[in-house]
Amino acid sequence: MRGLTIVGAGGFGREVWCLASLLNDTGALWDVIAIRDDHPAHHRGFCDDLGADILGPVDELDPRVEEVVVAVGDPSVRRSITQRLPSGARFATLVHPGAHLGPRVTLGDGCVVAAGAALSTNIQLGDHVHIDQNATIGHDCHLEDFARVNPAACLSGTVHLGRGALVGANATVLQGRDVGAGAVVGAGAVVTRDVTAATVVKGVPAR
Ligand SMILES: CC(C)(COP(=O)(O)OP(=O)(O)OC[C@H]1O[C@@H](n2cnc3c(N)ncnc32)[C@H](O)[C@@H]1OP(=O)(O)O)[C@@H](O)C(=O)NCCC(=O)NCCS
Repeated sequence: MRGLTIVGAGGFGREVWCLASLLNDTGALWDVIAIRDDHPAHHRGFCDDLGADILGPVDELDPRVEEVVVAVGDPSVRRSITQRLPSGARFATLVHPGAHLGPRVTLGDGCVVAAGAALSTNIQLGDHVHIDQNATIGHDCHLEDFARVNPAACLSGTVHLGRGALVGANATVLQGRDVGAGAVVGAGAVVTRDVTAATVVKGVPAR
């Protein structure tokens, strides 16, 4: 039995469940696609509407039969969940067929690239990186583990996102800038200077 477990029954988890189901329709990759969540009662109605099964808590995951993708938006929560998965966990990387990946784009384990995202060329994503819908990632960008780019955000060329950095929806990071580990760029911001690790910036220009 080959299963795919999506960790997180929240909004993004359900989007990733839909993505996995779409991929399965075209390739029969998994026998079972299900969601795990430590607090399933919060989300059961939405999951039932989709026809998505919610299994028990994350700690009960069986790495022999379940590949995993951690579909939790908050990078620090995603990292802590990943760290407590059973040893031997195997991670799936999911790319929507409506995303564009150019040449020399490499993705780590457990990444998600959503519909309409565009990654041009010579781009490196670490493990457990999320690129959400319609985000654009320019040439020569490097995104460290657990980074996240929210919908319609734009990373110009040669941007570096540190471990667990988050770029909000519709934000723009200008070319060559560095967003430090754990930093948050607010929705709609324009980053014109490097962002210090573990800080929050917002506005235009971002401060
Ligand atoms: C920037 C951000 C991290 C701040 O979060 P927060 O610390 O909880 O901020 P608050 O909601 O308490 O707001 C604090 C102040 O910042 C302002 N503010 C919040 N987000 C802002 C943004 N993106 N741009 C400009 N101002 C913003 C608020 O209006 C408020 O102003 P006030 O003090 O004058 O009333 C957050 O608002 C944000 O933009 N996150 C990204 C969201 C995103 O991308 N969502 C898509 C999910 S798929």
